Amino acid sequence: MCGIVGYVSHRQDSNSFLINGLKHLEYRGYDSSGIAILQKEGIAVYKSRGKVSQLEQLLKNHQVSSSSIAIAHTRWATHGIPSQTNAHPHRFGNVTLVHNGIIENYLELIKFLDHPKLNSETDSEVAAALINHFYQQTHQPEQAILQAIKMIQGSFAFGILFEHNPKLYAIRRSSPLILAINQGENYIASDIPAILDYTKDYIILPEDTLAILTADQINLFDQNLNPVTYQVEHSTLSKETMQKDGYEHFMLKEIHEEPTVVKNTLLHHYHSILENIPNLQTYQRIIIVACGSAMYAGMIAKSLIETTARIPVIVDVASEFRYKNPILFPTDLLIAISQSGETADTLAAVELANQHNITTVGIVNVVGSSLSRICTHVLYTLAGPEISVATTKAYTCQVALLSAFALNLAKIHHQIDEEMFQAIYNQIDTFEKHMQMMVQDTQYIKPAKLISRHQNVFFIGRGIDDALTKEASLKLKEISYIHAEAYPAGELKHGTISLIEKDTPVIAISTNPALFEKTLSNIKEVKARGATVILLSTTINDKLKEVVDYTIEITKESIFFQPILSIIPLQLLAYQVANLRGCEIDQPRNLAKSVTVE
Ligand code: G6P
Repeated sequence: MCGIVGYVSHRQDSNSFLINGLKHLEYRGYDSSGIAILQKEGIAVYKSRGKVSQLEQLLKNHQVSSSSIAIAHTRWATHGIPSQTNAHPHRFGNVTLVHNGIIENYLELIKFLDHPKLNSETDSEVAAALINHFYQQTHQPEQAILQAIKMIQGSFAFGILFEHNPKLYAIRRSSPLILAINQGENYIASDIPAILDYTKDYIILPEDTLAILTADQINLFDQNLNPVTYQVEHSTLSKETMQKDGYEHFMLKEIHEEPTVVKNTLLHHYHSILENIPNLQTYQRIIIVACGSAMYAGMIAKSLIETTARIPVIVDVASEFRYKNPILFPTDLLIAISQSGETADTLAAVELANQHNITTVGIVNVVGSSLSRICTHVLYTLAGPEISVATTKAYTCQVALLSAFALNLAKIHHQIDEEMFQAIYNQIDTFEKHMQMMVQDTQYIKPAKLISRHQNVFFIGRGIDDALTKEASLKLKEISYIHAEAYPAGELKHGTISLIEKDTPVIAISTNPALFEKTLSNIKEVKARGATVILLSTTINDKLKEVVDYTIEITKESIFFQPILSIIPLQLLAYQVANLRGCEIDQPRNLAKSVTVE
């Protein structure tokens, strides 16, 4: 994944539009960036390592003038290290392009092109060389692009410029790209936030369809250069949602949005899941595939569904699922969870299920994303745009939606009755109030101070709390760069306890009273080895305070809502630790928000 933005206009204002657009796309990758500006003398390319602000400074330092047509890119390295040379745009002969995705057969293409002289280590430069190769034969940009993509295997979204040609070309396969429409100017972008300051009207570029943009027109063509008609969409997102609203970081703002968006997600889906997934009672097994935090939301769902609806659930990492020749039955229901809806491994897992005629459900946050288009049924989380790379509100909305799903499943399998179903629904308002209290609560601050001084942290929990520790530990790792391991509380003593030294922080989560005494025994085991224990629980008393070093008390909720409430102080704890350590919270090193490559 990377961010693409392109501009063609009657005005000469390319640079401010593109820098603004890139800043809104930085969540997609931010190790280097670049811009190619079509000027009278030819295409000028400027690139920089690091954040978009560094590219902005470079343009200022060189007093680079804007033009009426240009493309730009912010990168997350796949082929080749983050460097100025590997940054996009790439120029080869007459062709300059920006690329998202991965060209799998780039080595074959290098051979086909008879080992052209390339400057970078990227697969993207090979694509520029390939298009240029065909351009040299025909001098027709359209033909050159279409011939090139016939040879390319893998995924791509390209924005392409040709020397002395005032048109902007775009094409994509399995990597998102939109075309946006404004008065007297048009744009390309890999996501809607890039264009929201200028327009809300956009077209989703269909796969393998060539787009040619001028200031006044957008024309689409199929592979035989026949015109393709399109539909204009109107985004309902406001540009304010893309701002920090006075919070120091997007992550903090997004944690504070959780009470509202979780409530909205619960209310929206509670009574409509059975309509949206017809015959839900006929599926005998559920397979959940996802990556990262989305997979950990799936682990919470497994615990809820198995304990309450008594339907077996398998949770698999999407990147493993696709290559393990999974055993699938016609009565399986596959649920794919993804904030972005663009994660390559998750998409591939769904495609595999589709090939086996398995019913698929996408739980997605981004409306119209690739996942929403390939699943049999789609259920949207209502988190709104999430800008911070480390997910918070999208994750809790996934858990909320899956809780509503589990409740519906339990109801149709007669494990809970209508009265109980309605009673839990009636708790949603109170639950929102408890979430509001939790985002304001400050119990996490003292333990955060302690943790910020350590390099290794352990999380322990049992049952559903074990699933929760996985997400809590990932959050801490992602943004504070502290090594954290999440272990089932009873398993730690089978090896890993050897890593506990004097003062090693251990965060124990215990929200199920039936398992509390068991977890307490495990707490005592680590205490006996010198650990400093932080206990997050619904049942804190004075006796317990003598056993552990710090406590975070949370209110007791229905098991369907408890995991949502429990993660909030742990998200805040990770945030506070990262802040104390001076980390780049919204854009942690090496990460990107959506990973559109394998
Ligand atoms: C990336 C992000 C993770 C995220 C995962 C899945 O690795 O850094 O935070 O959980 O992708 O993303 P998705 O968009 O599919 O939920």
